[in-house]
Amino acid sequence: MVAKTEHIRLDPPLAWVAEDSQSGIVVGLGKDSLLLKPHSVPRTASPDNINLTVYLTSERAFRFSGRLHTEADPWLVNLAEDQWPQLHELLGQLRKDQHIELCRQQDVEASDRFTGFEQLSLRPETLPLVDPSELDTQVAFLGRTFAAPMLITGMTGGISKGVEINRRLAVAAQAFGIPMGVGSQRVALENEQYAAIFRVKHYAPKVFLIGNIGMAQLLSSKALDQCQRAVDMIEADALAIHFNLVQEFIQVEGDRHFKGALEQLELICRKLSVPVIAKEVGCGMDARSVQRLIECGVSAVDIGGAGGTSWALIEGLRSQSSLVQGLGQTFRNWGIPTAYSLHHVHKALPHFPVIATGGMRDGLMVAKAVALGARFAGIGLPLLRAALESESGPQEVLQSFLKGLQLAMLASGARCLDDLADRIELGRPLEQEFLQAFAQVKR
Ligand SMILES: Cc1cc2nc3c(=O)[nH]c(=O)nc-3n(C[C@H](O)[C@H](O)[C@H](O)COP(=O)(O)O)c2cc1C
Repeated sequence: MVAKTEHIRLDPPLAWVAEDSQSGIVVGLGKDSLLLKPHSVPRTASPDNINLTVYLTSERAFRFSGRLHTEADPWLVNLAEDQWPQLHELLGQLRKDQHIELCRQQDVEASDRFTGFEQLSLRPETLPLVDPSELDTQVAFLGRTFAAPMLITGMTGGISKGVEINRRLAVAAQAFGIPMGVGSQRVALENEQYAAIFRVKHYAPKVFLIGNIGMAQLLSSKALDQCQRAVDMIEADALAIHFNLVQEFIQVEGDRHFKGALEQLELICRKLSVPVIAKEVGCGMDARSVQRLIECGVSAVDIGGAGGTSWALIEGLRSQSSLVQGLGQTFRNWGIPTAYSLHHVHKALPHFPVIATGGMRDGLMVAKAVALGARFAGIGLPLLRAALESESGPQEVLQSFLKGLQLAMLASGARCLDDLADRIELGRPLEQEFLQAFAQVKR
């Protein structure tokens, strides 16, 4: 029977060679099938069996055998169940590079770019109450003190560019005295040869490093062991576990079984050698979810709100199927805007450390996030793009964020981060007072 699975688009395609020396390109991969374009004249007999080798790189090849359907265009190869794990491995290795390329080349953010910070302002201070030399941007988190309330959020570097991207980010994090997260370490847990991508402490021994795995990995019976391996692999100071339900559902090869994840999370929080951070990736968290995570034992949350990078959109863009692409578009702006999520969680749980990631694009936004109670603003896409651009790119981005934060503090008369909370207002400065006053006059 011809498989009905959706396929991801391979651009650039991979090369394949069959046992009978036919060859061509792989244009799509599904959960249980391949889409092939042959270089030469099509076969006549169909369906047929085919044994072929797919080349990820000149050194890395995957062998498959399956039922070939040449009446389909492109050709479809249905793989038997025993072949799925290696197909999954191939998909896993390609996925990260595809994410990077899409993030580099395309508009992958929420179409409205709405984080909620647009609706807030800091009240300006006319008098020079604070001298620039007195500004204190230091912040305490998980027993350590950091130079600024900014954090390089966990992002996959991909297989081909991962080492370089992570090195550039780590050097920048160390230079600015801020924490850094790495992207999902799953690929290295499955294949030790990729561990080097994540080991950045050679370049930045002092950096506070946050490891990363996904909620889907919590379901394995070896979840605790895997988490500890992820931590030990990179000498992590904390471990982030990302919750990305929307992404997994839209992703062609995503995990769709999450039951039992919270019970495992509890065990991991109890036994792991470092603190655990629960992390959303763009849909935001509400206080009820955070309360449940606290009961499981997490030490902090990254509320990862909407308004920035959209994983629904990215997974839609990876797919060949109009159905999946449509789902990605429909959910492009899905989620709680970052500022709303942050405010909601901080109001309910004022002492719990919250990281605000999702669409943080300048230092003024960082200042507003801190004013709303964030311990850190997490920065993703701008730093990834800068790391792809040049060695010093991430440091230039962080420098502009820091300058923006310092100016926001100075211009609103805040000497330290705690001072910002009193200066945040809804709307434009003094707008609420103005509206109320005029509403009374009219009555
Ligand atoms: C290329 C890229 C790869 C990412 N990979 C991961 C990942 O592996 N694990 C994770 O928890 N979050 C990952 N994220 C999500 C980010 O940590 C962050 O939540 C998201 O990008 C929102 O922030 P932004 O709007 O500043 O980009 C990734 C983001 C980008 C841009």
